[in-house]
Amino acid sequence: MKIYTSEYDRIGKRSPMLYGQFMEHFHRQIYGGIYDPGNELSDEDGFRRDVLKALRDIHVPIIRWPGGCFVSSYHWKDAVGKERKSFFDKAWRVEEPNTFGTDEYIKMCRKIGCEPYICTNAGTGTVEEMSDWVEYCNLQTEGRYAKWRIENGHSQPYQVKYWSIGNENYGNWEIGAKSVEEWGRIVAEAAKMMKHVDPTIELTAAALTDLDWNINLLKHSAPYLNWISIHQYWDRIHETNTPADYEAVLGFTNHTEDSIRRVKGLLMAMGLEKKIKIAFDEWNMKEWYHPKVHTIEQGVTREEYLYPRDANDNNSLYTMGDAIFTACFLNAINRNCDIVGMAAFAPAVNTRGCIFTCKDGIVLRSTYQVFYLYTNYMGDIVRDVKFQNMETICVTNSDGEKEEIDVVDVCVTEFSDRPGLAVALVNKLETEYAAVQLDFEAAGEMKGYYICGESVSSYNDIGRTQVVIQQEQIGTFRRGIEVRLRPHSVEIIQIGCRK
Ligand code: AHR
Repeated sequence: MKIYTSEYDRIGKRSPMLYGQFMEHFHRQIYGGIYDPGNELSDEDGFRRDVLKALRDIHVPIIRWPGGCFVSSYHWKDAVGKERKSFFDKAWRVEEPNTFGTDEYIKMCRKIGCEPYICTNAGTGTVEEMSDWVEYCNLQTEGRYAKWRIENGHSQPYQVKYWSIGNENYGNWEIGAKSVEEWGRIVAEAAKMMKHVDPTIELTAAALTDLDWNINLLKHSAPYLNWISIHQYWDRIHETNTPADYEAVLGFTNHTEDSIRRVKGLLMAMGLEKKIKIAFDEWNMKEWYHPKVHTIEQGVTREEYLYPRDANDNNSLYTMGDAIFTACFLNAINRNCDIVGMAAFAPAVNTRGCIFTCKDGIVLRSTYQVFYLYTNYMGDIVRDVKFQNMETICVTNSDGEKEEIDVVDVCVTEFSDRPGLAVALVNKLETEYAAVQLDFEAAGEMKGYYICGESVSSYNDIGRTQVVIQQEQIGTFRRGIEVRLRPHSVEIIQIGCRK
């Protein structure tokens, strides 16, 4: 196999926001996750120091919050100030104490050093409530909500630039779901009010790959939108928690770009691809496990929908296979950086997240190691790559069908601020090395940073680190040099980089 690229193949500069994360009020993501007042490992504000550091180490650029399905019956005003009001969260069917609200979220983002990105309630909420939230966050002193923020001890506006109208409002599982016809108008009206409070904000709205939904949304709301949000989880296991085997995972890697292509195609057809970018603001290979919750079926007990969620915390589920998929997806959004400007791994902490917390420590799962590799060693200018003699293998996908897949996935980057190249190479083969010839111009020493683990089932857990980043000196680059990729590995090779 040979890969070719040149400086004339630049796709563009990718947004740093491609490496964003998502946090929802679900199970132990917030409470008992990043926010754990009283825990010895937490700081004076109740945030877990170890989690904050782990997020800083992967340079998290942006965190979407507070949901997810949770947001569709969330009222932000109940969760600020001294008089917090708990409520029964109708999406996840648990009591929400509201001790973590907007002020705590902003404080958390400041500690991490990332942009806040707030998703509003377009389920049971009103457009006025959305614009009041913008007022609370962004107005200097005008209006009762800006004054309320000041009264709550925050004299300076929070300057929240990124806002989403709604979450998955097309889905019948979502509280206050909307019809195709309703959605475009609601978004336009919400956007109008929000932008009348602060015209500098950037707005996105819940969407998917459905043509009717998107055409109607864009017909009504395109003038107000900077983004369009899409979500995807490839392994559809929210009712079963029976993860796909490795062959099926490889099948998923064939489809990392499908939704992007469809939405980009529509944006192009409507002449909007320069104005509106894709926010892939929830993605993960595995769906979260929460069986029997989005139902009105008689006789489902609280135990049946609540207790199974603990199974998301089984660290052995997050293997080198998940890392392979994660790297392929990051390559995909890098390659599509002309249209994808933001993405959020769902979620950051606990559930299917890249960081797991327990009372006395954290586990950095295999997917965390991938984020570490990409955010620390890849460049920001993405190049197109051409292949010669790409090897393929035939796998059985999750639908039981045969599929041909490429054995390696590649992304080549340059750095806007220094010389050198960084090449991400994923060898999907389970047990064999893959040899790749690098047929392009570059110069200097080659250094590799990689993860592979013993097998595709390797995982990290408390007292067990099987998937760790290792380094190697590969030698001096020459055009046509062959690199041998370890079985089931993700490797970033830097060429001529001074670090
Ligand atoms: O399973 C988690 C949920 O997935 C998120 O809350 C929602 O946005 C998506 O459907």
